[in-house]
Amino acid sequence: MDSRTVFLAEPEDTRRLGATITHAIEPGWIVTLLGGLGAGKTTLVQGLLAEMGERGRVRSPTFTIVESYSPAGMEIHHLDLYRFQAPTDWIDAGLDDLINGRSILLIEWPEQGGTFVPAPDLKITLAMCDAGRLATLSACSPRAQKGLDSLGMAAENSANSANAANRDLSP
Ligand SMILES: Nc1ncnc2c1ncn2[C@@H]1O[C@H](COP(=O)(O)OP(=O)(O)OP(=O)(O)O)[C@@H](O)[C@H]1O
Ligand SMILES: [Mg+2]
Repeated sequence: MDSRTVFLAEPEDTRRLGATITHAIEPGWIVTLLGGLGAGKTTLVQGLLAEMGERGRVRSPTFTIVESYSPAGMEIHHLDLYRFQAPTDWIDAGLDDLINGRSILLIEWPEQGGTFVPAPDLKITLAMCDAGRLATLSACSPRAQKGLDSLGMAAENSANSANAANRDLSP
């Protein structure tokens, strides 16, 4: 499936990319966020939720595992599996109950949940790059491919508007 990479020079660019992605995401989507400690995963989710209309504070779910939001009548769960001792913690925490075909799951550290984590529609990988970050968006389902296509230019524009030196590294 298709993927695209954009350079994010500063945290505001990461938030703006999250806001852009909002326009492709639909109820039921599973979005995984990969990247090491401090890569910018929560920052991207903050931009995404703000664009969806969430007005409350978006805290990292590192200690709570899941933080839930309902902007504009949507059901959004932000998960962070970093502190899992074993993949079966997914079951023990009752996270399967969150998968219902209409709630949107945004999952940090999905690798910690192993095979219990549902297959993503969209995979977002963040990596350190100089003082900024490189974000790679990968569509993993036909609906995500369509969504990514629909915002193709928007994703590029959003990063470009903040950073003229944006590098699109997609093949
Ligand atoms: N494009 C960027 N350039 C520079 N710094 C950034 C960028 N995006 C985010 N940051 C900064 O990186 C720091 C860590 O961000 P964040 O908490 O979102 O990371 P995380 O991937 O969620 O980490 P964790 O794995 O610990 O949950 C924050 O200070 C944030 O402002
Ligand atoms: Mg985080």
